[in-house]
Amino acid sequence: MDSIRIRGGKRLAGTIHISGAKNAALPILCATLLSDGESLLRNVPKLRDIDTTAALLRFLGRDVSSEPPSVHIKGGANVRPEAPYELVKQMRASVMVLGPLLARYGRAKVSLPGGCQIGSRPVDQHLKGLERLGANIKLERGYIVASCPRLRGAEIVFDMPTVTGTENLMMAAALAKGRTTLVNAAKEPEVEELGRIINKMGARVTGAGTDVIEIEGRDELAPFDHAITADRIEAGTYMVAAAATGGDVLLENCPLEDLQSTCALLRKMGVEITREGTAARVRRLGALRPIEVSTEPHPGFPTDMQAQIMTLSCLAEGTSIMTETIFENRFMHVPELARMGASIETDGNKATIHGPCALEGAKVMATDLRASASLVIAGLVAAGETEVLRVYHLDRGYEQMEEKLAAAGADTVRVHNATA
Ligand code: EPU
Repeated sequence: MDSIRIRGGKRLAGTIHISGAKNAALPILCATLLSDGESLLRNVPKLRDIDTTAALLRFLGRDVSSEPPSVHIKGGANVRPEAPYELVKQMRASVMVLGPLLARYGRAKVSLPGGCQIGSRPVDQHLKGLERLGANIKLERGYIVASCPRLRGAEIVFDMPTVTGTENLMMAAALAKGRTTLVNAAKEPEVEELGRIINKMGARVTGAGTDVIEIEGRDELAPFDHAITADRIEAGTYMVAAAATGGDVLLENCPLEDLQSTCALLRKMGVEITREGTAARVRRLGALRPIEVSTEPHPGFPTDMQAQIMTLSCLAEGTSIMTETIFENRFMHVPELARMGASIETDGNKATIHGPCALEGAKVMATDLRASASLVIAGLVAAGETEVLRVYHLDRGYEQMEEKLAAAGADTVRVHNATA
């Protein structure tokens, strides 16, 4: 397994290009199942999760030619509406093929994703929603088995806003008969982007990006051509990296409008962020101030930025408090940061970070994507050498992170087949 070796203490200065958004690309790849013909996705990031989705679409019978940043997907003659455990276990987001497969082919068999490192992450809301659209759903030997000759529009009220749940239901509703209303829907920009895709395909979606979304289904949908928007979490991660190193970085293709809560927090900490056309310039001018923040659904502060900001708050002058409200087990970076010298106490979903800490390089390992990013950032400022092991987690969601950082002045290299 690869690792990333970082010699800390280098100030980031230079330009970093932000890739297409992973969490926008994944549902949009699944949406291609709603029609035959050839769809073209552009600005697709080169990531392991994209490869996993491409493999799943091929398994389902699609013809996928993936040369990121472009991916072409064509409907194949032989469709097998079944997502096996071997593929779904690699990536929970695979459950998003359920809605489109059921709507398009009248049946689907998709492995239950199971728990994951950051929490139990059930899919009950996806299933309840599909049942409201008329699906007959059974759980058989670890699989969701769903059938319905034609879904029918209905009102679905989510118990909590769920991003992939909202996306799964939007895709199913696009081929349902009549109108579907999703209440308490997720408002994330990726949901809005999927709404634009479904409109391009010929159904009518209104309200995506608000908590009530209406979808008027169609009998048939058309293929589409779309360029994925920039990844707000990747951009936020490099903002934190720039701030941590006291740097001055230009983020090209930066979706500032989707990053308002993260930018507001960074500004409170003493980071200057200015728009320069489609780019953002990030500079740290002086000492960092501590913060108190809770993760929330969009437009609140995103759980996907919690770990990275925690590393930054280790460097702030004073005590910061961070509360994680979305996932029950998303502090796995804390013991690893502590091994690097951070002073963090946790009590349930609340972390108290006593800054400033002098971080020291160490061998560290994280078991999820954003936690891995927080350790890379810690390595950038730590004294001496840090080795972040098992970076396959990082490769799921960051395109060539070590190269992007090195191009902006960091001393980061990938070690192939490092021993964990
Ligand atoms: N939930 C349920 N039942 C459901 C669905 C969700 O109880 O049927 C709960 C979850 O357990 C969680 C909360 O609702 O406590 C919100 O989860 P959500 O469904 O919104 O998360 P997700 O759709 O599985 C997406 C992103 C995550 C991101 C979360 C929250 C994708 C592919 N994944 O996950 O991204 O953290 O929304 O914003 O869009 C990442 O990129 O690192 C990542 C984990």
